[in-house]
Amino acid sequence: TAREAGITQAPRILVIAHRGASGERPEHTLAAYDLAIEQGADFIEPDLVLTRDGALVARHENDITQTTDVAEHPEFADRRATRTIDGVTHTGWFTEDFTLAELKTLRAKERLPDLRPGNARFDGQFAVPTLAEVIALAKRRSAETGRMIGIYPETKHPSYFAARGLDFDAPLLAALREAGWDRADAPVFVQSFEVDNLRRLARQTRVPLVQLVASAGAPADGAAASYAEMLSDTGLAAIARYARGLGPEKSLVVTNEGDDTGLARRARAAGLQVHPWTFRAENYFLPERDRIGADPKATGRLADEIARHVAAGVTGFFTDFPYLGVEARNGA
Ligand code: G3P
Ligand code: CA
Repeated sequence: TAREAGITQAPRILVIAHRGASGERPEHTLAAYDLAIEQGADFIEPDLVLTRDGALVARHENDITQTTDVAEHPEFADRRATRTIDGVTHTGWFTEDFTLAELKTLRAKERLPDLRPGNARFDGQFAVPTLAEVIALAKRRSAETGRMIGIYPETKHPSYFAARGLDFDAPLLAALREAGWDRADAPVFVQSFEVDNLRRLARQTRVPLVQLVASAGAPADGAAASYAEMLSDTGLAAIARYARGLGPEKSLVVTNEGDDTGLARRARAAGLQVHPWTFRAENYFLPERDRIGADPKATGRLADEIARHVAAGVTGFFTDFPYLGVEARNGA
């Protein structure tokens, strides 16, 4: 529809709810996404991982030891394993060892209970959502509110999963097709740190894609020697051949000292939208809305930081606190 078509080229700065309203509800739950929508987010962000039977579910990591109650399920005790994912060794439980039906018997837990005790109140209440459920929520709430709400899925560790015979492309494209969203003007951005996954998707779909880049290191698929080299003018032009946007770690756009690096301007000149992550006042990391609202230093710092990024030329941003993001965006 015309309303859907506008959102990925929206004239206003996009507020992207990072893992939902994850500052106020356990991340990647329908409750976190729903609260983000309530607060006026333009997009909700599910990070995606795969189950043993190839279903896409919303978790930040395939290691679900901290973000679910799996450790409290004796029937899954023998699934505990040790895996190396993108160079980091984890011991615990992994989505690729569970069918979707098994995963649905688990309940979400707050990943940072010490920093976000308000979220831990909800432990045990919510299931792990599938991508299809996240899309259904965005569609239902768009219809109810009359405001277009898009989804911003991230493919997590595609080369790790591919090495285990699990592929993102087919189930992701099937879910988008099912939603009527496998098209260039869908209210969707698909993001990844891995270059090859995005390039492969670009050959199969016209859905907007976003290349994520971190302030250090290199893509895990080995497609570039470093993220830094991907940010040269030549590198940005190469990204613009398969992606609609760039998702940089925020310090690449405005330094921690508050200086504009010029990256947003250069990326825009290459034809890319620019969506930095993540605005969450981590130095304060105040867990509850009342406490954030009561601390002008925290809200002021966030609003100021977002305003600096807007002045630097970003076209959207990821935040754990969409209500603060909407306020800051509207005031910027
Ligand atoms: O997708 C942008 C940002 O979310 C990347 O970092 O680790 O929070 O998925 P992460
Ligand atoms: Ca993400």
